[in-house]
Parts: sequence; C-alpha cells; structure tokens
Amino acid sequence: MPENFAYPVGLRLQGRRVVVLGAGQVAQRRLPALIAAGADILLVSPSATPSVEAMADAGELRWERRRYRSGDFEGAWYALITTDDPEANAAASAEAEARRVWCVRSDDADAASAWTPATGRSEGVTVAVLTGQDPRRSAAVRDAVVEGLRDGSLAAPHRRSRTPGVALVGGGPGDPDLITVRGRRLLAEADVVIADRLGPRDLLDELPPHVEVIDAAKIPYGRFMAQEAINNALIEHARAGKAVVRLKGGDPFVFGRGMEEAQALAEAGIACTVVPGISSSISVPGAAGIPVTHRGVAHEFTVVSGHVAPEDPASLVDWSALARLRGTLVLLMAVEKIGRIAEALMAHGRDAGTPVAVVQEGTTAAQRRVDATLGTVAETVAAEGVRPPAVIVIGDVVAVGA
Ligand SMILES: C[S@@+](CC[C@H](N)C(=O)[O-])C[C@H]1O[C@@H](n2cnc3c(N)ncnc32)[C@H](O)[C@@H]1O
Repeated sequence: MPENFAYPVGLRLQGRRVVVLGAGQVAQRRLPALIAAGADILLVSPSATPSVEAMADAGELRWERRRYRSGDFEGAWYALITTDDPEANAAASAEAEARRVWCVRSDDADAASAWTPATGRSEGVTVAVLTGQDPRRSAAVRDAVVEGLRDGSLAAPHRRSRTPGVALVGGGPGDPDLITVRGRRLLAEADVVIADRLGPRDLLDELPPHVEVIDAAKIPYGRFMAQEAINNALIEHARAGKAVVRLKGGDPFVFGRGMEEAQALAEAGIACTVVPGISSSISVPGAAGIPVTHRGVAHEFTVVSGHVAPEDPASLVDWSALARLRGTLVLLMAVEKIGRIAEALMAHGRDAGTPVAVVQEGTTAAQRRVDATLGTVAETVAAEGVRPPAVIVIGDVVAVGA
C-alpha cells in the first residue's frame, strides 16, 4: 500500500461537532466549508484573524478565546489542528487518536489521521482531490476539473437531472470569454441552440456536430411575426424533449425581448431558466476605455433605446427629461437615428459640446471607437461609415480616460 494512500469519503457534518484549534490563515481557509456543511463548530484559540472573528461575531461558530486543553475533543466527530504550537498540536493529536476523532494537522500531515482534499464545487458537483503530499498538484487538478465543468469543456452532461426545457442565456457583448460560466455550461449541454446575430458567435463553432444550431434571424415566419416564430421554435424543440438554449446578445432582459420568450414558454407550460449576461450597455463603453460612471463626473447613467426617433408617436422616451440630466446617456440601436436624437437633446438644452463616443462591435476583434461631440456626431457617424451594432455614449465620462 503506498504511503500516501487515503480512503476518500464525504463527511455529512450537519449539526455534528467539529473542533478547530487555532484561528490563523489555515483555519480561515477551512472554516467556510465547515460552516457551509452545517457543522457545529467549536473554535479554540487565544486570537483570530479578522475574518475568523467576523465568522464568530456572525454566530457561524462558537469561539473560546483560550489555548487547547485536554478534553476539548469530547463529543467531536472531526478535528482540525492548525496552531503553531507543536507541543499542543501533538497533545491534541494524541487526544483525537484516543477518542477516535478523525483529525487533520496543518503542521504534520504524517501525524494526522485525515487529510483535507483540495475541493471545489460546480453546479451541485463536489470535486475533491488528494495527491498525498503535493497540495499544489491537488489544487491544480481540482482547478482543471472545476473549470472544465463550469465552462463545459469537460463533457459531463447532467444526464440524470437534466430536464428538457429552454435556457434563455445572455451571451455577453461578443467576446466569447464574456459569457457567464453557467451560460457556457448550458451551451455545452444543449441539443438545440437558437442564436441571435449579436453575442458570442464564435462559441457556436465549438459545439459538437450533433447540436442543431439555428439562426434566429432565418427562422421562416410566414403568417407569424418574427418573434412569434422564434417563440414557436423554442416551444416545439422543448416539446420534442430537447435541451434548448436561446443564446442572446448581452443580457436577455436589456432590449433583448427575453421576457416575451419567457412568457410564451410559461404559457406553453415549458420550463425556462434565465441566465443573465453582460450587457453591451456597460461592457462595450468599458472595453473602449469609457466608464459609464466616474467619481466627480457622473453619478448616474441612463440606458436608452434609439430605435424609435424622438418625434415618432411610438416613442416612449422623454428626451427633454434626458437632456436635462447631467449624467451619462448610453444609447443602443441608435446609429440610424443619432442625428435626430442629438438634435432633440440639444433642442432641450444639452450642450452641443458634450463629448460623444461611438463604439462599434465592442469587445470583438473588429472593435472601433469614433469620437465626436453632440453637435458633430451625426456628421461623424456618416463620414466614418459607422454601422450597427454600436453603443453611443454621451457625457463627460467619454473624456475621462483620454
Ligand atoms: C437588440 S439590442 C440587444 C442588447 C443586448 N441585450 C445587451 O444587453 O447588450 C442590440 C443593440 O445592442 C448594442 N450592442 C450589442 N452588442 C454590441 C457590441 N458588441 N458592440 C456594440 N454594440 C452592441 C447595439 O446598440 C445593438 O444595436
């Protein structure tokens, strides 16, 4: 039997006494998992790090401010010895052995009866790695497995627990690294993906060949509205027992019609989960070096759709109120109507010299930024041939990073 062989087990510590000796960095790292497991923790230590102290103040453990004394392990199921006093550690270790309490020692793994694995969690899976006496390798293997589960690169689909249904996934602004880990995992588990033009299109190339990828813009809609046809496609595929991902650009609920899809699915009795995404309204300016707020410059930012012109009776936007605001205006879908929007803002009092930046295809390899002022932006957009998708930022924050 190799010396570093240990028998792995998952301890169910809910309500069971765990004694921790010492309250330094090691204890600070181990305690959150014990607290999460619901253990009845007795911490014995004359002093503690501020984080451990906060856990005691929050009532997450009982802290006795003193040194170890014989008898501390009475009633314990599990013990962690983390003090830097070798004599106390040896005595405590002997007591644990005598009482048959499994005991971890941070100072001497050989003298311990138990070892702490490197652990991580991803969506209901606990990963625990033991490599004998090489904690860095344990941590590296743990990280690789957890990361793989999170981003879906480790193919371990939820076959048992997975139920057919639809996930409305916010894919972020375009850079494939800017989707959430949950979104990426659901994508890796999908049978059908219905994707928009915007968002992380590169991720679609990585999907296995059996996954049906449907371009939302190309769904034939006949007598239906385009959105209805998308809703119907989602419903049909989910009814066929497929795991469907509706991959959207940015966040599903920021000008993404996500709620319409969620409502259609609810009406059809289909399970739907919504995964938030990084909205282009904040991330695209940020990628171009523009903070939407900045101390002493802008204390608010307002995200506005520019797809309806200000004078259009269908407009729901109060442009005169927006013109009076001092803060940042972030316009989406506004390239085509920027001239009329700028005019409306100036007519209602916003200074023509207000800095403006237009960021096209933000976070992608094609990203470009064009600067102007409110007075010149229409002309600049036309002269530079700016095309959608673009985010237009109006306000003094545009000049902050310059
Ligand atoms: C229908 S809206 C969807 C917004 C999306 N749900 C979000 O949260 O980012 C589409 C508009 O978002 C903006 N947009 C989305 N991705 C962009 C990107 N990578 N670069 C610039 N603008 C982008 C553009 O204004 C585009 O016309």
